Amino acid sequence: MKKPDRYATGRTAQLDLDGKILHLPIIEGSEGERAIDIRSLRADSGFITLDSGYTNTGSCFSEITYLDGEQGILNYRGYDIKELAERCTFVEVAYLLLHSSLPTREELDHFRHLLGQYALIHEDMIHFFDHFPPNATPMSILSSMVNVLCNFYPEMGEDPLQDIDVTSARLISKIRTIASFSYKKSMGHPLVYPKADLSYCGNFLNMMFDSPVRPYVVRPEVVVTLNKLLILHADHEQNCSTSTVRIVGSAGVNLYASISAGINALWGPLHGGANEAVIKMLETIHKDKDNLKKYIAKAKDRNDPFRLSGFGHRVYKTYDPRALILKEACDETLKVLNVNDPLLDIAREIEEIALNDQYFIERNLYPNVDFYSGIIYRAIGIPTNMFTVMFALGRLPGWIAHWKEMQEDPMRRIGRPRQIYIGPRRRPFVPIDQRSP
Ligand code: SDX
Repeated sequence: MKKPDRYATGRTAQLDLDGKILHLPIIEGSEGERAIDIRSLRADSGFITLDSGYTNTGSCFSEITYLDGEQGILNYRGYDIKELAERCTFVEVAYLLLHSSLPTREELDHFRHLLGQYALIHEDMIHFFDHFPPNATPMSILSSMVNVLCNFYPEMGEDPLQDIDVTSARLISKIRTIASFSYKKSMGHPLVYPKADLSYCGNFLNMMFDSPVRPYVVRPEVVVTLNKLLILHADHEQNCSTSTVRIVGSAGVNLYASISAGINALWGPLHGGANEAVIKMLETIHKDKDNLKKYIAKAKDRNDPFRLSGFGHRVYKTYDPRALILKEACDETLKVLNVNDPLLDIAREIEEIALNDQYFIERNLYPNVDFYSGIIYRAIGIPTNMFTVMFALGRLPGWIAHWKEMQEDPMRRIGRPRQIYIGPRRRPFVPIDQRSP
């Protein structure tokens, strides 16, 4: 990582604390983002800052992804997301995130070779699937199986970055096998093993949908769509799950356990679980005779817990650039697959109403990455309860890239926020026989 001090501007912010003037350095990033460096604040003043949800707080320097929430800009290592989604494969973008530059043909071939070499999971791991309860959620299986991988590959215990390129390829390849095997097991169908002659996405589709009764035809158009979906989910700077991977990794935990923690954070309906929640919301509205007005009113009612899933974003205060690409991909994919999904019509109507409603306009609420992705997964044949697993498959290279960047950071420290205590003041101990209810 480049020396972060090169981003010090030489300017300072002045803070008058009880008459003591503090001069806090101002930092400016390569895309013009500015921060007040408060790393010495408590030592110099005894004060901490308070920022629940970390809306205003930068946790690190990073060279991986740049977001501009006002302009709706998303770049991976300086490349625009739209260009990457249209001109790359997911494997190429995974390489870019992990290695800071787009791969040469030789580098890509070698990476693909590693992905093919590590596509199988240890046969002992397959027995684990037999012992999850039948209704086990795919995200709980995924985080459990990824966590247990560290026991099959213990070499990471000592040096976290030892063989990191092999470990990264191993995880990116095996997560795809674990996901498809868990689906086959949930259906009671025979497992389909990865094939050396199929691409990363082609293999996943084949492992998911091939069967001895009806061989699955891997359609190039569906492979293109799946590559696009995974690219669009591949990274998103310090979101909840990536921050989880970083903070768990900062304690010196191996990559598998850190990624497993990230999978659990992504599971939440406010985060990666929103793609599944969107479909459930659209199905509920469809069952309710498409009574859109009722659900828009519920979403606006502060006393009603209902929120429009797939809408709003902590950072984007305009249209999520990924949602724009996915909205277009929806039409293309459903046309190619000759699918007519009434939920897409409902989604479009919701967007049309919300984007013209003051409640949403005032709060800068727009469709996010989750609003249209589920409709495409449905059209491909992926079950709703695996939508967040698909998000995890896409996000994995981003998680690994951030974990690596954190491990390589000479200034890395264990993540440990402070707090403002508002509990009882110091009081005398009361023996149990003197306590009153
Ligand atoms: C992802 O961080 C990332 O980068 C995440 C992600 C990634 O790639 O990693 O982009 C992936 O997680 C996308 C977001 C998926 N989640 C959802 O779609 C769930 C629905 N969205 C909301 O829950 C919400 O918008 C969040 C959680 C996404 C963001 O919440 P914030 O930033 O904490 O905003 P907030 O809850 O404080 O909302 C501000 C106002 C509130 O109203 P008021 O109190 O001002 O009256 O906007 C309202 C909220 O009630 N609001 C919504 C709404 N989202 C916010 N009202 C109705 N429907 C919604 N979806």
